[in-house]
Parts: sequence; structure tokens; C-alpha cells
Amino acid sequence: MKSLPNDFFQGACDIHSHILPGVDDGFQSEADSVEALHYLEQLGFAKMCLTPHFMKQYDNDKEKIVPRFEAFQNKVSNKCKIQLRLGAEHMLDSDFPEHFKRGFLTIDSEKSLVLCETSYLMCEPNTTVMLYDIMLDGYTPVIAHPERYQYASKQHYERWKDKGYLYQLNLLSLTGAYGEPAMVKSHHMLRDGMYDYVGTDLHRLDNFRNYLSRLRLSTKEIDALHLLFENNAKLF
Ligand SMILES: [Fe+2]
Repeated sequence: MKSLPNDFFQGACDIHSHILPGVDDGFQSEADSVEALHYLEQLGFAKMCLTPHFMKQYDNDKEKIVPRFEAFQNKVSNKCKIQLRLGAEHMLDSDFPEHFKRGFLTIDSEKSLVLCETSYLMCEPNTTVMLYDIMLDGYTPVIAHPERYQYASKQHYERWKDKGYLYQLNLLSLTGAYGEPAMVKSHHMLRDGMYDYVGTDLHRLDNFRNYLSRLRLSTKEIDALHLLFENNAKLF
């Protein structure tokens, strides 16, 4: 097991982060967000998709978030070189049908991929229906951090994969940042080629930096992760 090569993140693109300040449980101040962007830039990241939570707990929707993003982007454009894009992480909860009606914030330039998450503890009966409706409307769900869903078995993941849903690994799941079960699942899924994309899901810089320094992977896993970052790059 070894650390990632020094230049591993050179030119990297991230498709999942909570850097847009003051809109969810991620970054709260603009200064902290800028510090995170500088850190990512030093690591080598070139492009980031900011994906605020669209879920019951937060009063976020497309109409509110787009101007917040544009204001943030204007303010930071002369402070960092990372290219920013706006997306959203859509929770498949009872508010979801309303977001569905108003239109999604997608994570790709083709505007076809919808980043989705479900409850960690249980798969609500209507989750399957919501995923199906996304496909029916011409979009493809990218399921965020599947390794973190405690209810999901290998068969569950395979069933969703067969339906054409895509999977996004949380990079730090591989370090145990979300507990042992998620860590074990993430290594299995990475080695089995289950993932399509990878995201930082960055909420707090200290935490991210700390866990990233612990990341150790086999050569095969590093190669697999590299392919996921290549897939990410194709979305920009
Ligand atoms: Fe997230």
C-alpha cells in the first residue's frame, strides 16, 4: 500500500463539493472557501463543481443558489485560478419532486447528469420511483457515495448499476473518514470497477487535509482512481 504520487491531482476535476459558502453544512465563510480553493489549487486541481445540498433541511433551490454562485464566482475569480461550475447534490426526499419540477442543477457540460443521494439508513420506498423518473425525463442519476449507504448490499448496487445509474466514490471513504464499513465497501467497489466518478465531497478543509494524508492504496487501486479522475475530466 502506498501514498498517491505527488502529481496525482495535477489537472484534476472534482464533481462534488460544498465550497459555496453559507448555503448548507459545508463552508460557512467566504474566507474559508477561498482558503480551500487555494489548497486544492496547490494540490493540482483545475476544475471544481460546487454542489450545495438540495434537501429538506436547507432552503436551497435553483433560483436562490444560481445568484449566490455567480456572486461568489465573481469575488474569487481574481483570487484563484480554479475553474468553478455550479451543480447540486439532490437528496431523494419529499422535497425532491418540487426540485424535479423546477429543473435540476446538473454536474456536466451536457447537462444530463444529476448528482443524487439517499438517506444513509434506509432506502425510502419512493427512492426507486424518483430514480426512475429522473431517467424517464432524459437525465442520468449519479449516486453520490454509495459506499456510505448502510442499507445497501452488493445485490442492491448491482441492481441499480444494471438500470444505468452511475456511482460516485467519495475519495476519503477509502481512508475510513466515514467509518470502517464505508471504507471496506469503497475498497471493494473500487477494485470491482463499480464506480464511474470520484468526488471530494469537501465540507471542511482541516478534516479533508487530515484524512487525505492517511490515504494508502494498492497500485491497482491507484490506477482505478486515476481512471475515475479521467472520467470526471470528460464532464467539464
Ligand atoms: Fe455532499
